[in-house]
Amino acid sequence: MGKDVIIACDFSGKEQVMSFLDKFGEKRPFVKIGMELFYAEGPQIVKQLKSRGHKIFLDLKLHDIPNTVKKAMSVLSSLDVDICNLHAAGTSRMMEAAIEGLTRPDGSRPLLIAVTQLTSTDQQSMEQDLLINRPIDEVVMHYALTAKNAGLDGVVCSPLEAERVHSVCGSDFLTVTPGVRFADGDKGDQRRVMTPADAKQIGSDYIVVGRPITAADDPVAAYDRCVAEFVD
Ligand code: C5P
Repeated sequence: MGKDVIIACDFSGKEQVMSFLDKFGEKRPFVKIGMELFYAEGPQIVKQLKSRGHKIFLDLKLHDIPNTVKKAMSVLSSLDVDICNLHAAGTSRMMEAAIEGLTRPDGSRPLLIAVTQLTSTDQQSMEQDLLINRPIDEVVMHYALTAKNAGLDGVVCSPLEAERVHSVCGSDFLTVTPGVRFADGDKGDQRRVMTPADAKQIGSDYIVVGRPITAADDPVAAYDRCVAEFVD
């Protein structure tokens, strides 16, 4: 898979997501389904979007004992999602088990990427709540390298970290980056943001874009603008 724009479909139910995607006519953008939509609608929503021809990043961020994650990943693999994810904090054993669970009898599997430290975690909360005293940037890069060594395909990270992740883990290790905003757009609650053009420049492999597309007056035009800046 090459560079692409993934639309974060942060909707509460099937009707909302379908009426949003109907606006795209024959286009079939890559979509991200998160916990809210998945827990509301179940695996059926994945099957329905797949049958319409969308690629799917299922953003459920698994984190449990290796055996449980392995079995859960096997279920997600049978749904034929394109990308799924987990928390690198679950350790190498959990990540290796996840890959085993994802791998189908024919050897194929969805891409698997790791969350390192959530962008909502800052240095202070990491030190106080998690008792991790290293600089957060070092922790993020260490988790990324641990994920790579466990056989994962990439990480979710800030576009501001993508360049460093590539230099630590190699240019073919995928960086999937949310926190994207148009230069003339509203930042909302995101703090550290980058434009699609800048994300392309620093080497992000996929950008995950939610509200700049979903809340736009013309979502299709906003999506086309992201593709023009990031992919073309
Ligand atoms: O609307 P917006 O473009 O901010 O949406 C970004 C999407 O990426 C949301 O689904 C959000 O949960 C997700 N995300 C993020 N930052 C992370 C990880 C995921 O914004 N570090």
